[in-house]
Amino acid sequence: MEPKTVALITGANSGFGLALSRALAREGLKVYATYRSPRKAGFLWELSRALPVYPILMDVKRESSVQRAVRQVLKREGRIDVLLNNAGFVMAGFWEDLSDKDVRDQFETNVFGLLRVTRAVLPSMRRRGTGKILNIGSIAAFAAVPGLGAYSATKSAVSALTEALRLEARPFGVDVAEVNPGEIKTAIVRNTRMGERVLSANSPYTPFTRQFEAFAKERFNHAAPVESLVKMVLKALSHSPMKRRYLVKPPDYATYFLRQFLPDSLWEWIVSRMFPWSRFPQRKF
Ligand SMILES: NC(=O)c1ccc[n+]([C@@H]2O[C@H](COP(=O)([O-])OP(=O)(O)OC[C@H]3O[C@@H](n4cnc5c(N)ncnc54)[C@H](OP(=O)(O)O)[C@@H]3O)[C@@H](O)[C@H]2O)c1
Repeated sequence: MEPKTVALITGANSGFGLALSRALAREGLKVYATYRSPRKAGFLWELSRALPVYPILMDVKRESSVQRAVRQVLKREGRIDVLLNNAGFVMAGFWEDLSDKDVRDQFETNVFGLLRVTRAVLPSMRRRGTGKILNIGSIAAFAAVPGLGAYSATKSAVSALTEALRLEARPFGVDVAEVNPGEIKTAIVRNTRMGERVLSANSPYTPFTRQFEAFAKERFNHAAPVESLVKMVLKALSHSPMKRRYLVKPPDYATYFLRQFLPDSLWEWIVSRMFPWSRFPQRKF
């Protein structure tokens, strides 16, 4: 009998990670689904009772935690065939309101976390001469959102790292790609952290922050369901080799192509229609 494909998914106790764990297990994969807080892993344990999903503790910010989790999977299965780097969060705040610590925290999870997990898994894939790594990026990698500069920067970093790793790992038979979704309904807004100074009474950006919060809530009320992302990830994993990048919804394609081909001035005009807090003030001459 063919051994089952083994997948490792980070940040799997909610949102994309949880939905992907369910979908991949239904496709017949053995899924090691990581969570960092036992308090929040209820749905994952429930899933594990019905499907081949194995919850496993991992905080991507901690090297020892990453090493322990990957060692556990490799000891049990002897291999990891698919790595989905999904764990991440949003640090919101206008640039001046973000401290160095805020920005470091954001990079520590979204960029260094992804690097840590990849570094722990890649050698075993390289030695076996096979494996797929799919990074969950964002459309914000190409079109930075005012108020989400730090988050956008982490996703741009993920995009560049993916591009390089894809070509570095290829000679060893390891296939690397990226998915760049726009807004999809998950717990991401509820889990958004605000920079240290964002809610300070002295911030000149407070009115913009309020507008931004209302805007984000409204956009996510109408966001696409998580199934659209799941469908695209399943499609990506069915390709050998995978494409460089997978976009998810028509508006994401529009953002990606318009940002590349429109002149900056025209792009900024469109963005300032969407985000009123990023316009010059009205002046009376
Ligand atoms: N939803 C969207 O519209 C959207 C769009 C583009 C990209 N993305 C990306 O998709 C990924 C998943 O987001 P989501 O929408 O599914 O949001 P979510 O429901 O908030 O899920 C995020 C997951 O990442 C985990 N996580 C955060 N920090 C972690 C850490 N240090 N170690 C381990 N796990 C950690 C969370 O665990 P806890 O529950 O313990 O915090 C949670 O399981 C993120 O990388 C996000 O940037 C989302």
